[in-house]
Amino acid sequence: MSHYFMNDENLVSQVRELIYKYASFSFTFFSDNGVFSKKSIDYGSKLLLESYLKDDTASRKVLDVGCGYGFIGTVISIVNGSYVDMVDVNKRAVHLTKRNIKKYDNFKGSVFLSDAYSEVKDTYDVIITNPPIRVGKQKLLEILTGAFDHLNEDGVLYFVIRKDQGALSIKKILENDRIVETINKDKGYFIYKVKKMTK
Ligand SMILES: C[S@@+](CC[C@H](N)C(=O)[O-])C[C@H]1O[C@@H](n2cnc3c(N)ncnc32)[C@H](O)[C@@H]1O
Repeated sequence: MSHYFMNDENLVSQVRELIYKYASFSFTFFSDNGVFSKKSIDYGSKLLLESYLKDDTASRKVLDVGCGYGFIGTVISIVNGSYVDMVDVNKRAVHLTKRNIKKYDNFKGSVFLSDAYSEVKDTYDVIITNPPIRVGKQKLLEILTGAFDHLNEDGVLYFVIRKDQGALSIKKILENDRIVETINKDKGYFIYKVKKMTK
C-alpha cells in the first residue's frame, strides 16, 4: 500500500490545479497522486494557515516542515513577505512545491528534501507544520520537539492536530517544559502555538 509520505516512483502522475483565495490574494497549486490532500486543500492546513496569519502579520524567517505541495509556506511568504524554507521527505511533494513557487516572483525562500530536520542547518523565528500522523508518535514528536533545536531564542512553533489524533495528549507532552497556547479550534482540529519557557 502506498502512503502519501512514501517515495513511490511507480505511481502514475495525474496533476491537478487547486485554487486558494486569501484576502485580495489568489493562489493556484499543482497537486498530484502520491501527495497529501491531492484533490482539495486540507481543512486543517487552511485553519492552521489562517490562524497563523491572524496571529502574526510580520515578515519572519519561517520553516514549513512536511510542506506537501507547498500550500502553507507559499502563502505565508507572499502574504507576509516572509522568507520561507519548506521541507518534505516525499520527493514528489518537493518537486511540486518547487514548481508551485515558480509562479510567484515575490516568493523568498528555498525547498529541499529532508527527513524531519535531517537536512535543516538554519534557525528560524517560526516553524509551522501540519505534521504527518500516520508515521507514528515517535516521528511526530521528533518533528514537534525537534523544532526547538531550530528556533531562535524567542521562536515559536505552530501546528495543527485533531482531537482524535491525540491532540490533548500531545499538548500535555509538550507542556512539560514549554508554554502551549490553543489559538484556535474548530471541527475537532486544534491549532497550537508553542514557545520555550522563559527561565
Ligand atoms: C499532513 S501532510 C501536510 C502537507 C502540507 N503541509 C499541507 O498542508 O498540505 C504531512 C506532510 O509531511 C510529510 N512527511 C512525512 N514524514 C515526514 C518526515 N519524516 N519528514 C518530513 N516530512 C514528512 C508528508 O510527505 C506530507 O507531505
